[in-house]
This record gives sequence, C-alpha cells and structure tokens, in this order.
Amino acid sequence: MTEAVQTSSTFTPRVFSGIQPSGDLHLGNYLGALKRFVNMQNDVVQTLYCMVDMHAITVWQDPADLQKATRELCAGFIAAGLDPQKSILFNQSQVPEHAQLAWIFNCVARMGWMQRMTQWKDKSGKNAQNMSLGLFAYPALMAADILIYHATQVPVGEDQKQHLELTRDIAAKFNHDYGVEFFPITEPVIEGAATRVMSFRDGTKKMSKSDPSDASRINMTDDADTIAKKIRKAKTDPEALPSEAKGLEDRPEARNLVNIYAGLSGLSVDQVLSDVGGKQFSEFKPMLSELAVAKLAPISTEMARLMQEQDEIDKILAHGASQAREIAAPILKKTYEIVGMVGA
Ligand code: AMP
Ligand code: TRP
Repeated sequence: MTEAVQTSSTFTPRVFSGIQPSGDLHLGNYLGALKRFVNMQNDVVQTLYCMVDMHAITVWQDPADLQKATRELCAGFIAAGLDPQKSILFNQSQVPEHAQLAWIFNCVARMGWMQRMTQWKDKSGKNAQNMSLGLFAYPALMAADILIYHATQVPVGEDQKQHLELTRDIAAKFNHDYGVEFFPITEPVIEGAATRVMSFRDGTKKMSKSDPSDASRINMTDDADTIAKKIRKAKTDPEALPSEAKGLEDRPEARNLVNIYAGLSGLSVDQVLSDVGGKQFSEFKPMLSELAVAKLAPISTEMARLMQEQDEIDKILAHGASQAREIAAPILKKTYEIVGMVGA
C-alpha cells in the first residue's frame, strides 16, 4: 500500500474542460462552455482547455475533417477570448498520458456504471452491438482528461453532469481501492442561464451539432443574415413574453430564447424579462438577432482569419501540449507507482 499522497483539501485549484472537434461549434457550445471558459481564465487559477480528438473518433470521423475541425476549434477558442498566454490550449492526442490514465480507469470503472450513462444510451440506442468499444468507454477517458491534471473545477453544459458524477465515482473508487487520497473529487461548474441551449425547431431537444437540421442551431460560422433568418424562423408560441421567470414554465421555446438573450447579454433572466415582458416575439426576435450578431460576428470573423494561419495554430497546440505534459507526466508516474507498476 502506498502512502497517502495528498488530501482533497490540499489540491491547488485548477480548471479543465474539453470540446470535441467534430462538426461546427454552435451557440450551445458558446454559451454552455466557451464563454464560461473565458470567464474562468484569470491570473490566479491555472486553466487547461482541450480539443478532445480521441473522444471525437469514438464515432467515425473522416481524417481530413478531423484535422480541420481540430484547428477550427482551436481558432474558435482563441477568437472567443482564450489567450494561449493565460490558458493551456492543446489537443488530447498530443498528450499520451490521457490514454494511459484512461486504461487504468477502464479497470476501475464498472460495466454497470457505464451502462447507466444516458449519453451512451442515447447514442447507441437499439444499435449498441455495432457501436465502438471506445464510445462505451468514453466517460472513463473523460475522467482521465480531468484527473490527469488533478483538476478541481470543470465548466461544462448541463448535458455533461452525469459524466462528471462518474468522474467523481472513479476518483473515489481509485482512492478507496488503493487506500490513498490521490485524485481530487472534482466539482462540476454548471452555472448561468444558458447551460442547456435548446433546438430552434423543438424546445424540448438540446441544440446539437448532430441534429440533421441546420435551422435547429446557430453555428459560430454563420453570417449575420443566416443568424437573423434562423432566429426569425425559430419555433415560438403565440403568447406575449411574460414579465417574470415563472411565466416561462411550460413554454420551452420562449424560455430558450429568453435564456439565450440572458446568456449573450450577461443579464439575468429576471432582468431580461423586466425589459421585454409584454412584448410579442415579432418585436423580441429582432432584438435577439441584433444581440446575437453583435456578439458572434466578431468571433466568426476572427476564426476565419486565424484559419488562414495554420502554422500559428499548430505551434500553439504543440506548445500547449508540452505545457500540459509537464503537469500530466508526474501525476501518471505517481499513479503507476500507486498501482504497483514496476519501473514507474
Ligand atoms: P460537445 O460539442 O458535445 O463536445 O460539447 C462541448 C461543450 O459544450 C460541453 O461542455 C457541453 O456541455 C456544451 N454544450 C453542448 N451542447 C450544448 C447546449 N445545447 N447547451 C449548452 N451547452 C452545450
Ligand atoms: N464529453 C464532453 C462533451 O461532449 C467533452 C469532454 C471530453 C470533456 N473530456 C472532457 C468536458 C473533460 C469536460 C472535461 O461535451
């Protein structure tokens, strides 16, 4: 039995999160994740943000598309305000310690835990026998992403809550099985009005890159006209907007548009409703379009500019990976020692 290395209270605060480079970034990613990554970037707490390319290939990715999406995601991170001088930006496959720790966690996590994951159930559906083994093991790799840095806080959208609970279970079981306090019990950070942005076509479904309908989402690369058109066509109900949040209950489409307005403006839902309560959608939608274009257009313009500088992006990713490995390598070494691997 190895000595207890650290206790939970002694973990230095550290932020980690990841996004898959598969398909275009959309408004849900921006409000649920990216914008909040930027808010957490500061000089005191170390922040690591990862393009999780190994997660992306759990379902088929065309190699050329994967390369492009990884660079585009990096461009999106920077255009949205992440600064490679302040945050460590890198892609997962350049830091092999993620996969190495994931193997250990594959041996800690239980089949039953994985089978309960709603994302697995949704993605595999009736076709589980034909899914990749990687898709099933996906949450163990995600736990490794986080715990290889001893990250204490993970900003994500609402849909990732269950995966973060599993990350805590894996950390606790590892600590318990080996009699150590080695991995922190990570806190999910799921805050704000827009942690679950819904589809423009169906207010009960989340906005997602895998939705076949492009009209269901705003992509970060959409131009001003496209954004305005998608908002104009977004599904709503015939009522005017209420003046209080409780008037949005049972009105998923109205609630979604108000949440998006709140998320983009930085106002609370109550503040938004005190301004727009009583207005019809015919009046509110143009206000939302104007705000969305004002916030998103500069980001997409900057993304397009950065995509012209592929070498620069590759340099940023390589530098980020070497910084990330400096943190990850000693944690992996210690994990191997705890597990009893000779030569660690
Ligand atoms: P993904 O695109 O699935 O890799 O998700 C990347 C990040 O965006 C995660 O933190 C998700 O929780 C977040 N996210 C994805 N879709 C939405 C959505 N519709 N609303 C809010 N957050 C989202
Ligand atoms: N599973 C996350 C998603 O699809 C992406 C992800 C992978 C992630 N590893 C992570 C998010 C670690 C936070 C922390 O949204």
